[in-house]
Amino acid sequence: MGLFFKMFVTVVLTFLNVFTFPIFGFFAGEDNYQVKDAEDIKLNFAAISDIHMTDEFARVQVLKCGLWDMDHAADKLDALVLAGDLTDHGLEEEYENLKKAFEPYTPAKEILMVVGNHDTWTDEDDRYEPAKENFIRYSKEITGRELTECYYTTEINGYTFIVMASEGTSTSAYISDTQLQWLREEMDKAAEKELPIFVVSHWPLAETHGLPVTWGDEEPELLDGSFGDQNYQVEAILKDYENVFMISGHIHNGLVNDRQADIYGYTSVESDGSFHSINLPSYMYMGIRGRVFNGLGYSIEVYEKEVLIRARSFTSDVWYTDYDVTIPLV
Ligand SMILES: [Fe+2]
Repeated sequence: MGLFFKMFVTVVLTFLNVFTFPIFGFFAGEDNYQVKDAEDIKLNFAAISDIHMTDEFARVQVLKCGLWDMDHAADKLDALVLAGDLTDHGLEEEYENLKKAFEPYTPAKEILMVVGNHDTWTDEDDRYEPAKENFIRYSKEITGRELTECYYTTEINGYTFIVMASEGTSTSAYISDTQLQWLREEMDKAAEKELPIFVVSHWPLAETHGLPVTWGDEEPELLDGSFGDQNYQVEAILKDYENVFMISGHIHNGLVNDRQADIYGYTSVESDGSFHSINLPSYMYMGIRGRVFNGLGYSIEVYEKEVLIRARSFTSDVWYTDYDVTIPLV
């Protein structure tokens, strides 16, 4: 096959995938978004990360494919978590494209936006304030949520979601003493409910999910790819509680299960006692490890005694059942 013919086929297939899925996906049927046990479920949400919206039309379409899938779920999602790097540079025109992708759909009853490092790269002079302003403005416009800080707490079906945010513009997070104090207070309040607590942060904890090696620097340093300087303070707070589920992105890994742990040296879902860490693949970019595809994320189903974490490509309407993890609650 000639090179030009191959290129032609690739372009045609990409076109078909991106532009026709919302039409033909409707007829797919057997892999539709449906929870395992609709009668007993307490909370049902999707989590995706690293959308990296730009001014490119194709990125809007790729996001729309996933939102379409969620919008057509058999059981309406209680929430959709967007775990940071919503945009490539935190720019107004990128947020406008993000908003445009959401406009035709209602993927979930509530949407939680989370700040990632790319969302803080708004200002040429490296100031944080313009990034914060854009995030707060578009959080209101896209999700209806009124914020005063980029970090916040919300309750969905009685379950607490604590959303952390960097207050700096570096690749690692900067978590102020005020936010650390707030985190402690919010965890205390959440623990009183004796229900699982969901903590969402773009940044994973150091030494989880293959860090620092999976961050990819040639000479990795221990805190690479993690929260950075406040990493161990955050970790100490979170690990004081039971049934904590931390959801992160940032590394752009693919899905890795127990069976592949000896190849990659980590898994996408890791537990330390009753602290559980879920690292989301990049939604927009394919990683270099594990199962890779675009539109990947997790469907998270909470039942009375367990949490079921199910991998899905939201763009192609496919469950990756090899990557399901069931976590019993204590
Ligand atoms: Fe990213």
